[in-house]
Amino acid sequence: MKVNLFASVENVNEESLKGSSVVVIDVLRATSVITTAIHNGCREIQPVLKVEEALSLKNQEVLLGGERKGLKLEGFDLSNSPLEYTMERVNGKTIVFTTTNGTRAILKSKYADRILIGSMLNAKYLAQKLVEFGDDVSILCAGTAGKFSMDDFICAGKIIYEMSKMTDLDKDDFSSLAYLSYVNYKDNIFEYLSHAKHYNYLLSIGLNEDIEYCFTEDIIDAIPCFINGRIVKL
Ligand code: MLT
Repeated sequence: MKVNLFASVENVNEESLKGSSVVVIDVLRATSVITTAIHNGCREIQPVLKVEEALSLKNQEVLLGGERKGLKLEGFDLSNSPLEYTMERVNGKTIVFTTTNGTRAILKSKYADRILIGSMLNAKYLAQKLVEFGDDVSILCAGTAGKFSMDDFICAGKIIYEMSKMTDLDKDDFSSLAYLSYVNYKDNIFEYLSHAKHYNYLLSIGLNEDIEYCFTEDIIDAIPCFINGRIVKL
């Protein structure tokens, strides 16, 4: 199985994703939110690029969720904190969701054969499924404002590490580097994260609990899958 890793949405040509399974990662925090919401029974999530678009879809049947600059948006029901997406709040609901980088990365993956949503929360289970499918895998880190983000990279490393325990992988060099980063820091992830810009920004706005939750490994066995414009449970 080939594994290719892309540093951010700016580093991928969407046509090149044809024929592979894509895993989208925005570990802080969009794909951790999506993983949590789907695990807690959310019926579907519709990712949209713009705040205005989300607001235009508002009605009694849907919840609006997301952020700009990490903060809840006016007129929205939910922020981008995974801790808000509890079973009580999201079970059976449709959520229209917009975030700065994460939803952009998901929509950019549209040409892939299969689009799965990854996070630390579901990494091991996701790795198992990827190995079962046996397709070549492209991992797309959302990054931050088009730039490489260390937090997404270490999460990619974790998924590659879990896959490599189950099968031989033909990794590109960037995937090997992510794998090595995870192996080196897996017992000390917060030391690694202390060098990451987006992590430090989220800390500065008081989101410590979100970060701690987003870096809890392997507590969810649900895989969100983006299909026909909606994210549903695989
Ligand atoms: C994003 O999509 O840019 C992030 O999830 C931002 C955030 O942490 O709120």
